[in-house]
Amino acid sequence: MKKIPLILDCDPGLDDAVALLLALAHPESINLLGVTTVVGNGPVQQTQENARRICQLAGRLDMKVFQGCPRHLFVKVGSSPSTYTGADIHGETGLGGCKLPFPTIPLQSVHAVSFILQTLLESSEKITIAASGPLTNIACALIMEPSLKDKIEKIVLMGGVIGLGNITPSAEYNFFCDPQAASVVFTSGVPIVMIGLDATRQTHTSESWLRTIESINTPISQAVVDMLSYYHRVDALFEPGVAGGVLHDPNVIAYLLKPELYKGRDVYVEIDVSPTIMAGRSTVDWYSKLHCKPNAYVVNEIDVNGFFEMLTEALGRYIFPEQKSHTCSHC
Ligand code: RIB
Ligand code: CA
Repeated sequence: MKKIPLILDCDPGLDDAVALLLALAHPESINLLGVTTVVGNGPVQQTQENARRICQLAGRLDMKVFQGCPRHLFVKVGSSPSTYTGADIHGETGLGGCKLPFPTIPLQSVHAVSFILQTLLESSEKITIAASGPLTNIACALIMEPSLKDKIEKIVLMGGVIGLGNITPSAEYNFFCDPQAASVVFTSGVPIVMIGLDATRQTHTSESWLRTIESINTPISQAVVDMLSYYHRVDALFEPGVAGGVLHDPNVIAYLLKPELYKGRDVYVEIDVSPTIMAGRSTVDWYSKLHCKPNAYVVNEIDVNGFFEMLTEALGRYIFPEQKSHTCSHC
């Protein structure tokens, strides 16, 4: 399999952290050109520091991490209809109760959007973008240089929903944070794979799986257990009907590694940008009622066992005997 040239745009964030670890565990399949970060689960200062922490934890001091947009395209006016914030789910640090050392891996001086633009425009081959946070950085790049769309192989993103939202009844968190950015991406003409809540709610943690990861007994497996134990506890409160912490974002990387684990269909998707309770709603024309040209491949089914087998195997690949173990507030 030819290596996928990839940019991961994310907002770590507990499930973003696991997505990053999954990508870094597969250097034979993924050529991760850079990690760009955006405001979302926390301020961008926090999301970039967490991305650097995770790269360092994975032993990848060479990885380039970029800081992106500190705010979304439009600042919401009035009181938000949402009932919780990113910190409620991911903790004040964004990584639950797991305190990883402050990263020595440097932050790149170039802005994330500039990195996306330069990398795509200078590349002789099309580049894939994986997005696991609000789409602000990617939308800014597409607005600044519309020809970029011909340099992107596809955007595989975690976001949106066919059914009920998680931050409001209508919207999923990433699209709710920046509806205008999501609309720019979905009207750009770039090939999109949308992995929304209908699919990702199926990949939630369980006590038995956390124990399996704990039995790997490495600094990384322990850090993942510490992170996800926090998420497992909190997320269940905010995703009614879901038994554990929902691993939304790693699905973006798992799709790139094993697309056969996923099923969906090519449909038309429209994003609501109105300043109403519908803000960020992804209307998915699943039965082609509108006869509009499809603009996304929307995933609605996941081979859950296959997903966790892949993730477990990937986390088992991190064996750095010399690596110092981390410390957590409750270790
Ligand atoms: O709705 C789930 C998404 O919101 C995930 O990307 C999670 O990290 C949060 O950002
Ligand atoms: Ca995320």
